[in-house]
Amino acid sequence: MVREMYFEVLRSAAKGGKLSFDDLLFLLSATEKEELEVLRQTADRVRQEFVGDEIHLRGIVEFSNVCIQDCCYCGLRRGNHQLFRYRMTAAEILDAAKKAKAKGLGTVVLQSGEDPWFTRERLSRLIQEIRDSTGLAITLSLGERSQGDYEAWKKAGADRYLLKQETTSPALFRHLRPGRELKDRLNSLAVLGELGYEVGSGNMVGLPGQTEEDLARDIQTFQEYDFDMIGIGPFIPHPQTPLAGATPGDLSQTLKVLALTRILTRNTHLPATTAAGVLDSQGRRKALMAGANIIMPDVTPWTYRQYYQIYPGKAQQGLEEDQIAGMIFSLGRKIGRGPGSRTPCRNI
Ligand code: 5AD
Ligand code: SF4
Repeated sequence: MVREMYFEVLRSAAKGGKLSFDDLLFLLSATEKEELEVLRQTADRVRQEFVGDEIHLRGIVEFSNVCIQDCCYCGLRRGNHQLFRYRMTAAEILDAAKKAKAKGLGTVVLQSGEDPWFTRERLSRLIQEIRDSTGLAITLSLGERSQGDYEAWKKAGADRYLLKQETTSPALFRHLRPGRELKDRLNSLAVLGELGYEVGSGNMVGLPGQTEEDLARDIQTFQEYDFDMIGIGPFIPHPQTPLAGATPGDLSQTLKVLALTRILTRNTHLPATTAAGVLDSQGRRKALMAGANIIMPDVTPWTYRQYYQIYPGKAQQGLEEDQIAGMIFSLGRKIGRGPGSRTPCRNI
């Protein structure tokens, strides 16, 4: 049964009507199969209308798993002494970018822990080299750095920056990311936007201590900041972290947050996250049916991939290109060509 009121609020949201915080909480409260399905279908329609059927592929190179931060949820935290640490050389990173290009991908994402060895200058040179030799769009995902670094890398040729806010609860953020503050993270996101980057944020769903109110606030912040990309994935406990014994996030709840984010943000890019694929072998497919329009295949060389263990099971989820293409075609969708930047909204 779908509550009449549920239909009404959802219909208004899909038309671009303003939602109150309580409306959002109400939409998040769905647990009945029929309500979840009507939410999913609405998100899928909004996705179709605002970003079409193309699924853009972004090749990720995880070039260093060294990190100076100690986030309680992440296997790369500096306190995890059991992890073998690596840094790829500039030549290896460039080679991985060229391979991504050869596979027909339009974007390379350079991702690492917060690793100061990769200085402003080293990364500027690398970005320039990748830009000159591949022409790919370049996304950076390197954690919080100085404004000067962001500026230099933009000048060197980077196009986008991913920096997830993780949670919009200042208390939970402080608890899970010792020594860091949510307001600084949000400030960095604003600075990146001012510098002309396309900006990506996102959250984790099902963090220990996270409430439905926190998730509703996450979605409100996504809308307020008008991010170009938003990565929404379930929390997965890692055995070598303080949250080893915590309960994992729930896929159905993750898909609700994803669907609502699609409905409210209209044309933003929403990836079907790898973490969704770890919880359920059909997780990414389900995400693509609930508003997602991006997949980020791992193009890190196999020798390193196993050590980029943010959460368990991640390396095994590295879908090969033909599997990705199969999934896209079976959904009646198309592979996006070119850099796949966010396109202006036609309807609002
Ligand atoms: N489960 C799910 N996602 C995680 N991340 C980090 N640790 C986990 C985990 N245990 C995500 C965070 C971070 C990105 C690098 O990976 O959202 O931004
Ligand atoms: Fe480092 Fe990012 Fe992991 Fe935190 S989430 S420990 S900053 S890699």
